[in-house]
Amino acid sequence: MGSPMTSPPKTFHVKSFGCQMNVYDGERMAELMTADGLTATDDASAADLVVLNTCHIREKATEKVYSDIGRLRKDAMKARGAAPMIAVAGCVAQAEGAEIVRRAKVDVVVGPQAYHNLPGLVAKAAGGTAALDTDMPLLSKFGHLPARRKVGPSAFLTVQEGCDKFCTYCVVPYTRGAEISRPFDGIVAEARGLVEAGAREITLLGQNVNAWNDDQDRGLHGLIRALDRIPGLARIRYMTSHPNDMTQGLIDAHGDVESLMPFLHLPVQSGSDRVLKAMNRAHTADGYLRLLDRVRAVRPDIALSGDFIVGFPGETEAEFAETLRLVDAVGYAQAFSFKYSPRPGTPAADMTDQIAPEVMDERLQRLQAALNRDQQAFNAATVGRTCTVLLERKGKLPGQLLGKSPWLNSVHVIGPHAIGDLVEVDIVAAGPNAVTGEVRARVAA
Ligand code: 5AD
Ligand code: SF4
Repeated sequence: MGSPMTSPPKTFHVKSFGCQMNVYDGERMAELMTADGLTATDDASAADLVVLNTCHIREKATEKVYSDIGRLRKDAMKARGAAPMIAVAGCVAQAEGAEIVRRAKVDVVVGPQAYHNLPGLVAKAAGGTAALDTDMPLLSKFGHLPARRKVGPSAFLTVQEGCDKFCTYCVVPYTRGAEISRPFDGIVAEARGLVEAGAREITLLGQNVNAWNDDQDRGLHGLIRALDRIPGLARIRYMTSHPNDMTQGLIDAHGDVESLMPFLHLPVQSGSDRVLKAMNRAHTADGYLRLLDRVRAVRPDIALSGDFIVGFPGETEAEFAETLRLVDAVGYAQAFSFKYSPRPGTPAADMTDQIAPEVMDERLQRLQAALNRDQQAFNAATVGRTCTVLLERKGKLPGQLLGKSPWLNSVHVIGPHAIGDLVEVDIVAAGPNAVTGEVRARVAA
């Protein structure tokens, strides 16, 4: 049972945690609620309905959701004298389901493949009955979502969801379900809509985005080549990829599709073949390095990014050192690194030789020191280059704007330019997390 409501919510706030796909889902839920007549508010404590769009990938995600719910209720009681209707969405909703209603008495629980039903669930909850939908229907939610209307210069577009790889540490195959590719026509139509709504860059999203395919076997590179022809779309990116789905066609696209940005996020997780095998990654460290060689052969300036896990069960000091060696060999422009976190229901959670937290802490520190060093070196190496920058938001200083280079490093510029402008920039200085540029010219639309 949810709390008995007397009137349906008029205002809402969506709070997204975790990956870019959750950001995308959060935007689409907001569009859905807006189309249903509700008004978005930036202030969670003032909203009649709060959607918590949750992440389940690492530690304590579930406990965090429960404490967030408690805090939301307290803040709202203080601010407006009433608790809001609460909808839990995202991967914790999928994993925990009815348990969240039982334990936290929330009004709505909706999984990542069912959120097109959110308006109906909210209406049911407004009638006083808790509403739950964690189905993974065969017909996807995408056909039921309203058109994109207003977006920033850089937009996300989900093209693929789910994962069949079953890495032994990962919950994604359980929370997001089996790999599915959205149909070609719907993606192209959404991309056109995003460009009409103001996007100049689109990042194609998928848990295994480079496994995207259709009945004509076009592959992700075929999709990218089609999107490249959309007038006004200046930049295309994609993430996250699996090394084993990196086809020659996609590699070739990096060589000759001008709008495809020279950036590749290709997680490897570990540099040890024994650990990679235990993770069920189905590739070796050397196979990964040779793959990168092939990408660099067609696009020598490509910026590389990765994901790493330290302290996977059984990881020895020598195996961890192999990860450091791989990092040295690659020279990442940026990367994400995590301590292994046992996820209930995954095979690795039941492995016996779990690593002590202090060992994980120490390894993570060493790994991050190496990755930070490489990121700084990458930023420094861009000084003296001229490149395009898509200006995405205001900086902290007066007149300062922030954007991204083709290699995805953050660029600060000062000048009379506007958010959404694509400008040509000389990079003149580098810091650890960003570089500074001087604008030469505005690139025509
Ligand atoms: N523990 C730590 N990190 C994880 N990741 C996925 N599952 C876990 C886990 N159980 C990391 C991987 C993946 C990224 C999205 O999150 O590095 O690539
Ligand atoms: Fe998780 Fe592995 Fe699938 Fe990535 S490829 S989502 S890490 S199971």
